[in-house]
Amino acid sequence: MEFIDRLALVSDPRLRVVALTGAGISAESGVPIFRGRGSMWENEKARTLARKAGPPWNTKGTWEFYEWRRGLVHRCKPNAGHPALVDMEHYFQDFGLITQNVDGLHGRAGSGRVLEQHGNMWKARCPRDGEIVDLPETPIGRLPPYHSCGTALRPHVVQFGESLDQGTLKAALGVSSRANLFLVVGTSGVVSPASQMPLIALKNGATVIEVNRDATALTPHVTISLRGMAAEILPRFWKAFLAKEARELKPEGE
Ligand code: OAD
Repeated sequence: MEFIDRLALVSDPRLRVVALTGAGISAESGVPIFRGRGSMWENEKARTLARKAGPPWNTKGTWEFYEWRRGLVHRCKPNAGHPALVDMEHYFQDFGLITQNVDGLHGRAGSGRVLEQHGNMWKARCPRDGEIVDLPETPIGRLPPYHSCGTALRPHVVQFGESLDQGTLKAALGVSSRANLFLVVGTSGVVSPASQMPLIALKNGATVIEVNRDATALTPHVTISLRGMAAEILPRFWKAFLAKEARELKPEGE
């Protein structure tokens, strides 16, 4: 982590910091990613169940697929990468956590405000009135679950081709455009608009640090790419960042 000393950034709680996470941050918790080695689609059951899921998304088939995913995630716990982001939230005065993940692991680790761009698999939404309800228990007795208004609920998860919640997107774009330091963790960087956020930050002068097992679509653009597992690299990065602050605070000559 010697590169930290070369960064043109003072380690300071007043830095405006953003972390954008993708499936890779949950990989070491046991949640499969979406693309490449270790993806969910390597699993035959996932492929079979996903074939029966589809519009209007409040069908039994959709819920069977989601219940399989929810059961899997239910057995997973946050890993060492998640609490590093909780610490950052407490340390920086202006910190934004943006995630593409729907697994809820950031919340379970203790992150207070998470800008979930793709929704949350532990919530459901009524297609008729748009009301969002918590659905923390799995398995669900009867599928699909119903809203109190009598309409079958759908998972509160953005499907391909659907638009994102505009308020959550606006908040994510806002924190991205004013960041001094932007961490992009465990995402392939191919799904827009999340993939644009580090680029917006870069354009506005931020230092962008990528943490990823492999090279990605964002790697050629970022300031520094740290290659490795998020659960290992993020806590090390955070420790090095705090150590740099301690050195900078030492009076001359010590
Ligand atoms: P992807 O599956 O596309 O990418 C996961 C990334 O994590 C890859 O770049 C891997 O190299 C990296 N990775 C895997 N294990 C890692 C580890 N232990 N530490 C660090 N990096 C690791 O997932 P996303 O980029 O999140 O959308 O995908 C974006 C969206 O596409 C998802 O939110 C989902 C999907 O379709 C919706 O569900 C709407």
